[in-house]
Amino acid sequence: MREIKIFDTTLRDGEQAPGCSMHLKEKLEIALALERLNVDVIEAGFAISSKGDFDSVKSIAELIKNCTVASLARSVKKDIDAAYEAVKNAVSPRLHIFLATSPIHMQYKLKMSEDEVISKIEEMTKYAKHYISDVEFSAEDAMRSDSAFLAKAVSTAIRAGATVVNIPDTVGYASPREMSEMITYLRKNVENIDRATISVHCHNDLGLAVANSLAAVEAGADQVECTVNGLGERAGNAALEEVVMAINTRKNLYGGATRIETPEIYRTSKLVYNTLGLYAPINKAIVGTNAFAHEAGIHQHGVLQNRETYEIISPQSIGLPSNNMVFGKHSGKHAIEERLADLGHTLTKEEMEAFFESFKNLADKKKSINDADLEALLGHKISPFAEKEYKLDRFTVNSGNYVTSSAVVRLKYDEQLIEKVSIGDGPVDAAYRAVKKIVKAPEHSVDDYSIHSVTEGNDALGEVIVRIKCGDKVYTGRGLSTDVIEASIIAYINGINKLL
Ligand code: KIV
Ligand code: ZN
Repeated sequence: MREIKIFDTTLRDGEQAPGCSMHLKEKLEIALALERLNVDVIEAGFAISSKGDFDSVKSIAELIKNCTVASLARSVKKDIDAAYEAVKNAVSPRLHIFLATSPIHMQYKLKMSEDEVISKIEEMTKYAKHYISDVEFSAEDAMRSDSAFLAKAVSTAIRAGATVVNIPDTVGYASPREMSEMITYLRKNVENIDRATISVHCHNDLGLAVANSLAAVEAGADQVECTVNGLGERAGNAALEEVVMAINTRKNLYGGATRIETPEIYRTSKLVYNTLGLYAPINKAIVGTNAFAHEAGIHQHGVLQNRETYEIISPQSIGLPSNNMVFGKHSGKHAIEERLADLGHTLTKEEMEAFFESFKNLADKKKSINDADLEALLGHKISPFAEKEYKLDRFTVNSGNYVTSSAVVRLKYDEQLIEKVSIGDGPVDAAYRAVKKIVKAPEHSVDDYSIHSVTEGNDALGEVIVRIKCGDKVYTGRGLSTDVIEASIIAYINGINKLL
């Protein structure tokens, strides 16, 4: 069986999606989750693009021990220098350079002739190679390139030392048949192709990223580039969990398997959604709420007789426990700890103490607490962003349909209590205006606000997500409470703490 390598680019291409930029500590947490998932390569960022990106690639390279860590670089010396500086301390570093090969990109973006592109590929691959032996070359917009020219570009890169040659469908234009034909063509027509791993990187503009990646695997590609939950530029990239579960479920069809620890999939997906303040669409393959729900009577009957009548993968195989347990205020710490472990979360002693405290607070307000509540509580650990941060101490709001809403909010900052009052257009607006008077934050606006109920019932936890815009950056704040005004204030304060 072939081993199909999984190259995760959640922290690079995923982060390029609008509103998906992440803080260093969030990136480190995701990198650790990717390591537990056992991906082969973590693309940690684009080192030259900003100081923040450089620092996060460097920190991830120094933290991760069991995966290759890559940085992206244009085919330009200063990009490659920065990428090298950022990944050089990794146990297994990789430089990932790219240059476009399609007529439209060469003419309008690069303003280079075919010959110039070929010599640039040779020169920059050699330049990257003099730093690190593991060099990946990507022919940007490969799937709209002339196949003979692409073959020349790929063989040039391999001759210059590339160990991986990546064939991106940069704009999500290809069909599965074209993808398969292109990989087959390159395997036949690039004389030195056996000296490198063939990789694919498919975007999802026409909803075909996973299908195209799998078609490439069938045709002989040995590395797939993908992102958790399919996040990425525009409509995103191929979803890691879908690619992995498709290959693992149909090993014989693909003649290969991945090394992914599939029971880590669910929790990694949750972590990425939580970090970005997003939710899986309910019908999302593999990780959506309905992915394993059988509603129709005929289906339920079949599954009860034999699970495989309607279920091709088990919930446990992606880390979803099969039974649901309910807890309440009499539940002990040990039982909660065991349940968290079943859900795939191992907490340190201190983390467990803090978690149990928030569990008890919730149990005072909510009669029955289930897995969704536990996971929501876990996703709302106190934000680890600043030494000193604002915390909600107390608030009062007065609101109605015939009075002007008003709010008094008291925050704690560095042992100091600060209280302000404001009126507003509704209780949330009044509270946010009061918070804004307290915090010493640069000019910003709340661009988006959403509220969602974690479980059913009147006493359900409400989860609020706000997006705060400051300059060209967007910060996501999340708040959780059985009181939606409290959840709203906490979400705003958490976003402000991140911004600060
Ligand atoms: O989509 C793309 O072509 C890319 C390359 C830089 C690999 O992200
Ligand atoms: Zn891409």
